[in-house]
Amino acid sequence: MRFVNSFETKIKKIVKEKGLTYSIDTMGCQMNENDSSKYMGILESMGFTKTTSDKANIILFNTCCVRENAENTLFGRLGFLKQRKLKEDDVYIVVVGCMTQQRHILDKIKSSYRFVDIVLGTNSMSLFPEKLYNVLCLSRKEIEYIDVGNEIEEDIPIIYEDKYKASVSIIYGCNNFCSYCIVPYVRGRERSRKPEDILKDIKKLAEKGYKEIMLLGQNVNSYGNDFEEKYNFPDLLKDIEKIDGIEIIRFMSPHPKDFKDDLVEVIKNSKKIARQIHLPLQSGSTRILKEMNRKYTKEDYLNIAMKLKNADENISLSTDIIVGFPGETEEDFMETLDVVSKVKFDQIYMFIYSKREGTRAARMPDFVTNEEKVKRLERLKKLYEDNLPKLNEKMIGKTYNVLVEGKSKNNKELYTGRTSQNKVVIFEANNDKIGKIVKVKIDSEHLWYLKGVIEE
Ligand code: SAH
Ligand code: SF4
Ligand code: F3S
Repeated sequence: MRFVNSFETKIKKIVKEKGLTYSIDTMGCQMNENDSSKYMGILESMGFTKTTSDKANIILFNTCCVRENAENTLFGRLGFLKQRKLKEDDVYIVVVGCMTQQRHILDKIKSSYRFVDIVLGTNSMSLFPEKLYNVLCLSRKEIEYIDVGNEIEEDIPIIYEDKYKASVSIIYGCNNFCSYCIVPYVRGRERSRKPEDILKDIKKLAEKGYKEIMLLGQNVNSYGNDFEEKYNFPDLLKDIEKIDGIEIIRFMSPHPKDFKDDLVEVIKNSKKIARQIHLPLQSGSTRILKEMNRKYTKEDYLNIAMKLKNADENISLSTDIIVGFPGETEEDFMETLDVVSKVKFDQIYMFIYSKREGTRAARMPDFVTNEEKVKRLERLKKLYEDNLPKLNEKMIGKTYNVLVEGKSKNNKELYTGRTSQNKVVIFEANNDKIGKIVKVKIDSEHLWYLKGVIEE
């Protein structure tokens, strides 16, 4: 389905007359951020300008429901806005994103937060202009539940805040139903974008000077499973590799169960695919992985990690780990630590298990105390951080290609960028180098970043 904004002219007129603005609060993952870029694209194509939430006319919340405290955060922020909504004219509150696909959230908004103007689901962005028009001009409320459906919305305008790297969604939804996870319920079933639509978007970005592309999906390597003709994730990567101007290709997240040898081969032979692969582990215990419905074992995971390291020793691995899944014993947790000490991840996103109503794990008995879960998280963190300097030290004395992103936030004299392994590096440079790929020789490590010198 192609996005057509038949309300553009009408809304533009009102926006111009009143000088309307918007703010956007992105609360979730990279896919949520990508959706926010599209909301920005739609709003700015109608003339709205971006400002802060205390001044904006349209205040948009792009919600996430992966973690327990997310609901409190959203309702806290909405409560805070009630006074503004009551006192000022032309203040409109919009709630979009994953939480809006949960009926209990909608019920709560309808009963206790009636000042919200628009609620829109995760796959209904093309309805946004019409809803906005109804709210702005007809003083209607637009807060009905919309099913996720199977449509793919193409050609939605998009605005990236970054000038040299951009993310591109390649597959929406998820079919995996990991037992702890709410995402399949709020994002619907897997649907792959057509390769020609993806390649067209990336070519456009390359023409605009973008150098780095992040391909997004809940499970990128099941890309193409829904096509009649064979065209899979490795095929897509090979086609993107051919696009001139794009120099770095990243993707997240691949699922270990679908990480086949053809993908390892494409990564090995590619000049552009980043030497960093994000491979979510979740747990190192085969027993817990089964309970999680992850469909791979500890050994399967270690095997893929080894194949990647054998393909190129410069490949670094990052991962997601959940501690305290229902029934996780000390032995199970030790298996997780064992994988961490074997694989030596460069980055770990660590989560304490949080119960999501409606998922299978929410009905599993959970005997692990919260105190014990926090202790396990600390132990995992320590193991990871103790090993990190050793990984960083291996990079000292070597030269890496770095895309210069701009001035360093903490040290305004220096510039910052990332290596292909996604390691932050800071170094002396000048403004001409921003957006370019330079060679940096690493001379010291500082746990979360490296320092180096540009080699001419
Ligand atoms: N599709 C991605 C994950 C998206 S959610 C994948 O399969 O890797 C991002 C991360 O949040 C997950 O990898 C998981 O580690 C964490 N997560 C998801 N649900 C969770 C829950 N109920 N409790 C704790 N962490 C959770
Ligand atoms: Fe959630 Fe699993 Fe799907 Fe990732 S693969 S989004 S963890 S159900
Ligand atoms: Fe992402 Fe949160 Fe939705 S992690 S997919 S924004 S539930």
